[in-house]
Amino acid sequence: MPTRKCNGCDGKSDHGVLLRRLDKVLREYREKPGALIPVLQIAQGLFGYLPETVLKRISLALEKPYSEVAGVVGFYSFFSRMPRGQHVVRVCLGTACYVRGGKQVLDAIRKQLGIEVGETTADGNFSLEVARCFGACGLAPAIMVDNDTHQRVKAARVQDILSQYVKRVGKAKGRSKGGKR
Ligand code: FES
Repeated sequence: MPTRKCNGCDGKSDHGVLLRRLDKVLREYREKPGALIPVLQIAQGLFGYLPETVLKRISLALEKPYSEVAGVVGFYSFFSRMPRGQHVVRVCLGTACYVRGGKQVLDAIRKQLGIEVGETTADGNFSLEVARCFGACGLAPAIMVDNDTHQRVKAARVQDILSQYVKRVGKAKGRSKGGKR
């Protein structure tokens, strides 16, 4: 589960432990050229997302302007500044998928989960994102759930697909703030 509860920054809580791990990574990478992206990837792996406090810590340690660090995070879709759900559903809206019904698939997923793109269900099970191509254009429309690619998806199959990840997917309805940036 990528979302972690922050109990404060006293060095004993989960969050404190994660910050100390991040500091160790930063010491390792400080002198290395091109450290920013690998450090951000490691930090996202640790925290599940990239909160502002973490970006500021990275900015200071690597001696890079905060705007540069935040800009890199904003540029790459695999970085997230908000907590994501346990499962990330990504719907391809690249040309091949779009013309073969990707938008209808996206609408079905929005309806099924009760959230919009960039949001996370209230129970934290699913986050919804869109993408531009997974390299599976021949079998469009495609979606990804976590690292699984589902091809030739039809709107009518959406519930079956999502239920593979959470048995009682109907409970996932309801929106919360969340998503990217
Ligand atoms: S356009 Fe959707 S996988 Fe390529």
